[in-house]
Amino acid sequence: MNSANDLEELKTRLLADLNLAVSGASESPRLEDLKTKYLGKKGEIYGLMRGMGALPADQRPAFGQKVNELRDLAEERFAALEAKAEEQAINAKLAQSTLDPTLPGIRAPMGHLHPLSQVREDTINFFRGLGFELAEAQEVDHEWYNFEALNIPPDHPSRDMHDTFYVDEGIVLRTHTSNTQVHYLLDHKEPPIRILAPGFVYRVDNDATHSPMFQQVECLVVDENISFSHLKGTLFLWAKHVFGPDVNMRFRPSYFPFTEPSAEMDISCIFCGGKGCRVCKQSGWIEVGGCGSVDPAVFEKVGWDPERYTGFAFGFGIDRIAMLKYGIPNIAHLTRGDTRFLRQF
Ligand code: DAH
Repeated sequence: MNSANDLEELKTRLLADLNLAVSGASESPRLEDLKTKYLGKKGEIYGLMRGMGALPADQRPAFGQKVNELRDLAEERFAALEAKAEEQAINAKLAQSTLDPTLPGIRAPMGHLHPLSQVREDTINFFRGLGFELAEAQEVDHEWYNFEALNIPPDHPSRDMHDTFYVDEGIVLRTHTSNTQVHYLLDHKEPPIRILAPGFVYRVDNDATHSPMFQQVECLVVDENISFSHLKGTLFLWAKHVFGPDVNMRFRPSYFPFTEPSAEMDISCIFCGGKGCRVCKQSGWIEVGGCGSVDPAVFEKVGWDPERYTGFAFGFGIDRIAMLKYGIPNIAHLTRGDTRFLRQF
């Protein structure tokens, strides 16, 4: 039954089926099914090959070649149609999708330093530039370092329970960064001392301008022949750096047990230029921090010779500087963590 006629008939049927398969008509056969039907192991083309034995021997080579040609043709057509079908499927999927790859992307919001960190980092960088070293001391400290060694006697008001958080008998949350002075002078006996110590301090205090936990920066310089004018020069440089070249500065006599003489440093009001406004309470001046020459009593407590060495120290609140610099009216804004507020700085 194998004959050239069968072969021609098979070829015609194959081509007609392929046309039907791509016509999109509802009754059209699926490409995979056709492939199995014609090219499968038990398919019609291999069927022709298997039946070749029934032909007279002299006709077999020519017939065999024709069947091979038909198989090649079929493989080629199927491959082309499959590739086309795949492409159509991809295009259909793309046409359905609402993604537009040419639209601009959504940028991840950029963070920045908290205003308190900005003031702290800026202060550190400024004093580093003057040759100061960073120092730190513990926030939970024995009261001797926080008070006694700084010449603050037991009956001093700042030791009152109302100001100080007591952790245990004789153990406090430090009320100021000045404890760093004591630790540093005990640990380092070689002048010159030039340190800057930023850190957290704690007080039982809570209103618009005070918070129970806030940051201070402590500064200490010790050597032979250090005078009050060194203190003034250093602070004036720093004030101009932070508040601009037009800022003015004054010292008001004050009292701290660990400095003698002691002063309160004021800057000319940066909001009114010194004319008087609500912020400076019409005085034209704003208080920035405390300072003075190291009291000889402190040198004695930490074993430095007060006859030979002198020094100056100052301490100010980082929160206060940030509030002044950025015109922030309430200290609580700085620690609330509201990004709508923080984004402004
Ligand atoms: N420790 C003081 C305070 O917390 C600030 C201060 C005043 C620090 C004078 C100093 C200083 O180093 O010399 O209010």
